[in-house]
Amino acid sequence: MSWNEREHNAANVPIVVCYYPGAVIVAACSGDTILDAALENGIPIEHECGGNCACTTCHVLVNMITTTFTEADGSVSEMEDVEKDRLSGLQDSELKSNSRLACQAILLKGRVEVTVVGSEPN
Ligand code: FES
Repeated sequence: MSWNEREHNAANVPIVVCYYPGAVIVAACSGDTILDAALENGIPIEHECGGNCACTTCHVLVNMITTTFTEADGSVSEMEDVEKDRLSGLQDSELKSNSRLACQAILLKGRVEVTVVGSEPN
């Protein structure tokens, strides 16, 4: 669905997502996953299982620069048990308090900042 199509759908709320590295800012809509919004805008995020919560290749960090960007403020859906279980398989060094699976984290409102883990400089 294009941005224009979404813009005319009153049920959708426009959301700004900034992807790092690169600080690439894209427009998304409520209901999109972080993975959806990335792929629709040419931002590569690995998704080996096709977005079915069966791998962890879409691991991202939802940045918590201010409370505006935290999960708790409702910008992104709360984590469900299946995602928690999958993330628990990551090594301790990879897992952060703001870790999410891009295919499971649904954009809800506001502004969200996302770091694509596989793209982080070593
Ligand atoms: S794409 Fe496999 S868990 Fe998200």
